[in-house]
Amino acid sequence: MTCAECSYCPYLLILTGAALMLCCIIKFRNAITIAKGMLLKKNHGISLLHGMHLSLMVIFFAGYCVVFYFLIRGIQSAGILFVAIGFFFGALFALLSIVLQLDTLSSIKVQHESIKLANQQLLQTESVTIFTLAHQAELRGLETGKHIERTAHYVRLLAQGLSEMPKYRSYLVSGYIADIEKSAPLHDIGMVAVPDSILKKPGKLTPEEFEIVKTHCENGARLLRTADGKLSFQSFLKIAVQMVASHHEKWNGKGYPRGLADESIPLSGRIMALADVYDALRSDYPYKKRLSHEEACKIIAKEKGEHFDPDIVEVFSSIESKFHEISVGLAG
Ligand SMILES: [Fe+2]
Repeated sequence: MTCAECSYCPYLLILTGAALMLCCIIKFRNAITIAKGMLLKKNHGISLLHGMHLSLMVIFFAGYCVVFYFLIRGIQSAGILFVAIGFFFGALFALLSIVLQLDTLSSIKVQHESIKLANQQLLQTESVTIFTLAHQAELRGLETGKHIERTAHYVRLLAQGLSEMPKYRSYLVSGYIADIEKSAPLHDIGMVAVPDSILKKPGKLTPEEFEIVKTHCENGARLLRTADGKLSFQSFLKIAVQMVASHHEKWNGKGYPRGLADESIPLSGRIMALADVYDALRSDYPYKKRLSHEEACKIIAKEKGEHFDPDIVEVFSSIESKFHEISVGLAG
């Protein structure tokens, strides 16, 4: 028996078509629920199109049922009329689908653009807030000139250099590098709790005064930890807390506040330590004159495996000319 001779074929086709249309109605209702959450509010045009689209699918479904009924009952006379109705609604259905898709996409695009703009504004606000916080120290005369900007550049250069080493490649991804660069300006935020009488003292600090200075690591970390605790997502502040708490630790374990050694010091703190010291060596203070780039490089090389992580010193040695350019370009 050929397919043309199969008397069940029309029944099967109509029934399958009806089942598919029923699935379309259910899926379309789900799609509308999702789309409504993403559309611009009060978009009556799209709501109307959704309603019409759904109604047409219901009409189609009803049409399949009627045709199936006619087939069972052997009614032939209405065949041409139903074909005409089918073509008419089919064309309307296709047009409506395209208009609906276009309107929905346009609305989502507008929404997307506004989210993108809000996101950019939020990132800029975040950046300005970080620098405003960090510049508090500068306003109090605790840091020289552009120390904050320079150290952020140094941190990025070191992190990028380290990321090329196989050992760090999987860890130092671009997001992590961006986060430690963002954290760098906050490294001395805890200094705001140290009295001016100590910070602005022209001479050498007494051991008691130095103990107070040392508290800036924990004070700064506590401040940022509190801020981070108020966020419901993973922010750069987690890395900032580690960096602030550990930027005065030394590879040989003789740093402060916890006396951590080698890789137990967070990587962000190890990177910041070198950036901070290079900048301090290259800056003028009331109690000391700046050193030349070459002298600073010699001191850093000497501290390899003592104050600094040997890998980070290795990276520094390979890119020290860039440090020199920044120290000259952002002098002050
Ligand atoms: Fe510090």
